[in-house]
Amino acid sequence: MTAGTVLVTGASGYAAQFVVQDYAQRGWQVGATYWSGQEPKFDGNVKVFKVDLASGEGLQSCLDALGPLTAVINCAAQAAPAACEGDGETAARAINIPTQLLAALESHAARHGSRPALVHLSTDHVYEGSSSMYREEAELRPVNKYGRSKADAEAAVAAAWPGHHVILRPSIIFGPPPPNPTRRGQFLQSIDANLAAKKPSTFFDDEWRTPTYVGDLVAACCAAVERCGQLPPSAGERIINVGGPQRINRVDMALALCRVRGYDLQLVQPGSAASVPRTCATPADISMDTSRLQAVLGVQPTPFEEALRQIFAAEK
Ligand SMILES: NC(=O)c1ccc[n+]([C@@H]2O[C@H](COP(=O)([O-])OP(=O)(O)OC[C@H]3O[C@@H](n4cnc5c(N)ncnc54)[C@H](OP(=O)(O)O)[C@@H]3O)[C@@H](O)[C@H]2O)c1
Repeated sequence: MTAGTVLVTGASGYAAQFVVQDYAQRGWQVGATYWSGQEPKFDGNVKVFKVDLASGEGLQSCLDALGPLTAVINCAAQAAPAACEGDGETAARAINIPTQLLAALESHAARHGSRPALVHLSTDHVYEGSSSMYREEAELRPVNKYGRSKADAEAAVAAAWPGHHVILRPSIIFGPPPPNPTRRGQFLQSIDANLAAKKPSTFFDDEWRTPTYVGDLVAACCAAVERCGQLPPSAGERIINVGGPQRINRVDMALALCRVRGYDLQLVQPGSAASVPRTCATPADISMDTSRLQAVLGVQPTPFEEALRQIFAAEK
């Protein structure tokens, strides 16, 4: 695909920074939005905009400045499940269900006479977690408000942008430190810091995930943009799990990190999620089948330990 213009939302967050970098390195014009965090800085032809996607503030001027769009990759969200509960639910739904973005894109498309490909990041938290290796067509029965807001967002995107959208469902996203600091800490870096400090740490052995290497997620976003026009029109076939190839728990993740980093395996102490009071309901097993990721987007997910080797080799 020849370089065009892509709008990436949530560019002060973790995943979006790698998406922005990738497109900028390939010569695209990139619009990158942030809201309450620090303004991120990127190399290349990247214009950064302060936009509140919950209210729509700043969105029109961002779209006007970018002109016709080839693609939009929507990474902005309240992605901390606990923050989507109780008093946080209304604000979380306002950002997670991209009503303002969809409305603004509708008029932008009408003005420019073409619809950009819209890639929307959802989550594995849309699944209930009482089964295993979920396929995309499984019934969505989220156990927390975060998952509910993301399931409702998927429906909103599919209804507003039929035939021009792709929904990606990542699991826990991990990778190297991002170019700009993020407000939320990163899972991998925080356990690495604890184990490097020789702190014995407890990890759950009863919650199962298929963690997503950020490099695979970027590849999935790019492939989704490129192949959006060739996918079947039905909404169900435009949903793609973006997980790693293995169903693992956090003990497995921590032990893999110890092996790659040379930390003492005895620092990893198994514990049960079920025995710890949690701030919100957390699904037990939302591991995902990723055959569609490979068959439809051509992305071969990286095994967890191999991804760790790549991440820490690059740091040396
Ligand atoms: N992280 C994971 O393990 C994981 C797993 C599965 C799915 N996902 C999904 O993947 C996507 C990216 O996750 P992430 O962890 O990379 O995100 P993140 O680091 O938490 O960043 C979230 C981004 O959303 C932006 N945002 C929040 N409220 C906003 C608002 N009102 N207006 C505009 N922007 C707003 C934030 O901007 P400011 O901080 O500048 O306000 C930030 O740039 C999300 O859709 C998430 O649900 C993440």
